Amino acid sequence: MTFMLDPIRRARLRVAEKITDLVGDTPIVRLPAFERCTPGVELWAKCEFLNPGGSVKDRAAYQMIRDAIRTGLLKPGQSIIDSTSGNTGVAYSLIGGALGFPVTLVMPGNVSWARRKITEAYGTKLIFSDPMEGSDGAIRLCRKIVDENPGAYFYPDQYSNLSNPLAHYNGTGREIWEQTEGRVTHFVTGIGTSGTVMGVGRRLKEYRHDIEVWAVEPSDALHGLEGLKHMESSLVPAIYHPAELDGVISMDTDEAWDVSERLAKEEGLLVGHSSGASLAGGLRLAKKLVAADKPGVVVTLFPDRAERYFEAPVQPKPAETT
Ligand SMILES: Cc1ncc(COP(=O)(O)O)c(C=O)c1O
Repeated sequence: MTFMLDPIRRARLRVAEKITDLVGDTPIVRLPAFERCTPGVELWAKCEFLNPGGSVKDRAAYQMIRDAIRTGLLKPGQSIIDSTSGNTGVAYSLIGGALGFPVTLVMPGNVSWARRKITEAYGTKLIFSDPMEGSDGAIRLCRKIVDENPGAYFYPDQYSNLSNPLAHYNGTGREIWEQTEGRVTHFVTGIGTSGTVMGVGRRLKEYRHDIEVWAVEPSDALHGLEGLKHMESSLVPAIYHPAELDGVISMDTDEAWDVSERLAKEEGLLVGHSSGASLAGGLRLAKKLVAADKPGVVVTLFPDRAERYFEAPVQPKPAETT
């Protein structure tokens, strides 16, 4: 028996012609356990870990590659290359695979085992930079490879590429506005390239200029919040314009990790530490509203899942097994 689905049900069931059609339009979820300490202030999280590549970076990668094909910067026969601490690499690998472009990634030698395995499984070539030089070392090595091989690569350079924030202006920001039916009062998220906060911020402030947009930044250079950047000690992304934001929240690793643990145990959300950092920032804003006896709808964003950071089990040495 065949039948026609009505368009609303078809959209809800997300019947897609190809995997790239499933990038974006992620759900938003309320956080009732955390709301118990913010009476009168709603807390919501955009579930970016539900993108097909498992992170928010699917959006930026897809927009950058689509725009490059459209403008002729990426041609058949070329490879995509970029420096990435992981999630963008997974996103390039997925989209490169779906659209038929080989992918090369330059990443610090100490990225998690899980992310190496995931990107390699897509057929991506990995080149490792000095782990002591962090993500900036990967950026420098990537630029060197591109310079030494003219015409071989398309280098999206997510730190300078305007398509990165545009993905969030066109998608994430609009979706948050629609999903909260225009009630959002605050948006807060961590900064890596800053594409998410800049793009969402621009869109939301266009809808209503008094919506507050805050970035969360690790409090020191040697932090444990993978995916986020401590700007003072980093190469500052060209797309980052802090003057457009209402402020930047400095976040300790411990506080963010505590919130991540609570998210798993109290809300059933097993998300990465940058999600904990974003919500910890949201909680600070919400508590300020509560203290001032003001209502609010605070939206934060969960970039990826915790499993992405799980390490391979260490095999016990024979002597230890007896
Ligand atoms: C885990 C994680 N959280 C947050 C971010 C920050 O996103 P954006 O680069 O849009 O600032 C990233 C970016 O790579 C990430 O991987």
